[in-house]
Amino acid sequence: MDAVAPIPQSAGQATLGEVIAEAQRLLEQAGIESAGQEAFWIVEHMLRLPIHHVVADRDRLLSPAELLAVRGLIERRVGREPLQYILGTQEFCGLEFAVNAAVLIPRPETELLVEYVAQRIPAERQATIVDVCTGSGCIAVAIARLRPRARVIATDLSNPSLDVARQNATRHAVCEHITWLEGDLLGPLAKQELEGRIDVIVSNPPYIAEADWATLQPEVRLFEPRGALVAGPQGTELHERLLQESGRYLSPGGALIMEIGAGQARAMRRIVDQIPGYRFHRLVYDAAGLERVVIVERVGT
Ligand SMILES: C[S@@+](CC[C@H](N)C(=O)[O-])C[C@H]1O[C@@H](n2cnc3c(N)ncnc32)[C@H](O)[C@@H]1O
Repeated sequence: MDAVAPIPQSAGQATLGEVIAEAQRLLEQAGIESAGQEAFWIVEHMLRLPIHHVVADRDRLLSPAELLAVRGLIERRVGREPLQYILGTQEFCGLEFAVNAAVLIPRPETELLVEYVAQRIPAERQATIVDVCTGSGCIAVAIARLRPRARVIATDLSNPSLDVARQNATRHAVCEHITWLEGDLLGPLAKQELEGRIDVIVSNPPYIAEADWATLQPEVRLFEPRGALVAGPQGTELHERLLQESGRYLSPGGALIMEIGAGQARAMRRIVDQIPGYRFHRLVYDAAGLERVVIVERVGT
């Protein structure tokens, strides 16, 4: 990456068109692929303008306060902070989710988990569904919207994450519909009397192996919570613990649906074979052709 020219600190004077051109140049120098598009989004967000106004009003002079504010956001993006944290939002399953540095930014491939939960649970069924490692609450909220008759429980180790998740559930009018529990994996279910009664446990747990952390792009490594990403030396540690804990709670025929990292499917099959009471049901690939979701069923009657 070339050295990035400093962002002018004095307010000075500039038009919308000049600021967008300056932003695009700085973002390109910082190695950001869609620099032009992001420059538009940041300016549009900061000035609260619809996009056609940004184009039509190119000659409008920004006030000193507007100029400083826009440059402040561009500087954050030049430092490789993810655009979603700067704008404070990410879309998931067609819904807008608030995000901040306390939570992982929802990824499009995670929508597969929601799709496979919905496939197993008919709309009219009063099922019990648990989203483990809920983060921003994206999975729990999307499921609660799709399956309003289901009882949804969401857990996370991180209290700040649960705050964001509750905000997102309120925004989408399902907060009262979801039970929020703080703690380690299924530990918080201990007093809920749910043994053998859960229809689906769904989870996107941390699955990066410790050694791979340094190879991640700066947006992830420098800004997203490490505890949301790194599982341990193998990357499959949380999946294994979740499999061990889920047996007690799943109803016969109930499913554990988990996101995995590319290349982890073989290890997952081995782990499932070693833990009694499960049947490996299905491996799902994402749109890029990468192993992404494993579905495991509880055997028994
Ligand atoms: C990969 S993020 C997934 C967030 C969200 N479900 C999504 O798909 O975008 C993993 C989440 O697991 C939580 N977490 C990490 N270790 C945990 C544990 N042992 N028990 C419960 N939650 C944990 C993190 O706080 C983080 O919110």
